[in-house]
Amino acid sequence: MKSLFGLCVFASVMAGGAFAAEKAGTTKKEYGKLADGKVVDEYTLVNANGVTMKVISYGGIITELHVPDKDGKLADIVLGCSNLAEYVEGHPYFGALIGRVGNRIAKGKFTLDGKEYTLATNNGPNHLHGGKVGFDKVVWKVTPKEVPHGQALVLSYSSPDGEEGYPGKLDVEVTYTLTDKNEVTFDYSAKTDKTTPVNLTQHSYFNLAGHKSGTILEHNLMLAADNYTPTDDTLIPTGKIDPVKGTPFDFTTSTQIGKHIKEIKADPVGYDLNYVINPQRSKNWLAAVVTEPKSGRTMTVTTTEPGIQFYSGNFLDGKQKGKEGTLYKQYGGFCLETQHYPDSANQKTFPATILKPGDTYHQLTTYAFGVAAK
Ligand code: BGC
Repeated sequence: MKSLFGLCVFASVMAGGAFAAEKAGTTKKEYGKLADGKVVDEYTLVNANGVTMKVISYGGIITELHVPDKDGKLADIVLGCSNLAEYVEGHPYFGALIGRVGNRIAKGKFTLDGKEYTLATNNGPNHLHGGKVGFDKVVWKVTPKEVPHGQALVLSYSSPDGEEGYPGKLDVEVTYTLTDKNEVTFDYSAKTDKTTPVNLTQHSYFNLAGHKSGTILEHNLMLAADNYTPTDDTLIPTGKIDPVKGTPFDFTTSTQIGKHIKEIKADPVGYDLNYVINPQRSKNWLAAVVTEPKSGRTMTVTTTEPGIQFYSGNFLDGKQKGKEGTLYKQYGGFCLETQHYPDSANQKTFPATILKPGDTYHQLTTYAFGVAAK
């Protein structure tokens, strides 16, 4: 294992009930090889408190994230596969960086400057998460970056003109930072040489009790969203913006995820919808707060984005092979994907996702981890 920024800081943390010495820093090792011989690396980031995040260059996937509970005990709170072969075999976007366009584009078609573009339809009749080989399946160039209060990686990828049917060469750079305040930030930027839609996001599945601890139905969720974008039964927005009040979608005050889930009319039953984050004064908006009562772990999401997809792991069916032999069951993890609204490329009343040459796409999202006050 190669130490990239060994800061020689030893953090004493409670791990599994005993004190373990974790060295703050970033290390790199080979994770595996793809069929074409391309090497995939794994980076381990440890902050001053012993919080550890592992990221692989394939798909920018966060494979592990160990954060403390109310007693300082670490647990890995993200779902994932146990090796590269399992990730390549197929998985529901565990921990992945999503692009060019996160979420759905109706019928895989959109028109820009009078020209119709056709993309893969990889989710029923629609295009999902960038297509057949989205940013979750490419190998990113990863460069560790020295930052004052934590550990950071810069992930970059140049998506060729026409890749997955999208116009323009898109140069993307995403900085993942694990701060010494136990925050994980994602700072995305992109530039294009032709007008193109862009909507980048992160698809980590969280279970704040630990990735193999069962369902997330007892987690409490607050979403700073009075409204959502209702959809048709293929999850394409109708174009309306409806209030959550009086529906099972209302999380304006902290509510158990399982409390109203059975009232949702969907197949499979569960949350899979985009919330319209209430406009706030600050640039980095509060979007969500999640609390897990037993461990006391909390997660606070802030973002520059106007929307957040809350997905309660409805399609997990106990067949998906995961870490430590876990078979993830329905509701085994939740995603909070900060983003522009689904199908924005076709919905002219939604905030635009179109990037023009000369402009820079930017989005910043923070997941801050803590423990609830006793
Ligand atoms: C979507 C779900 C989809 C999941 C992929 C989410 O972003 O909204 O419908 O099943 O990604 O696992």
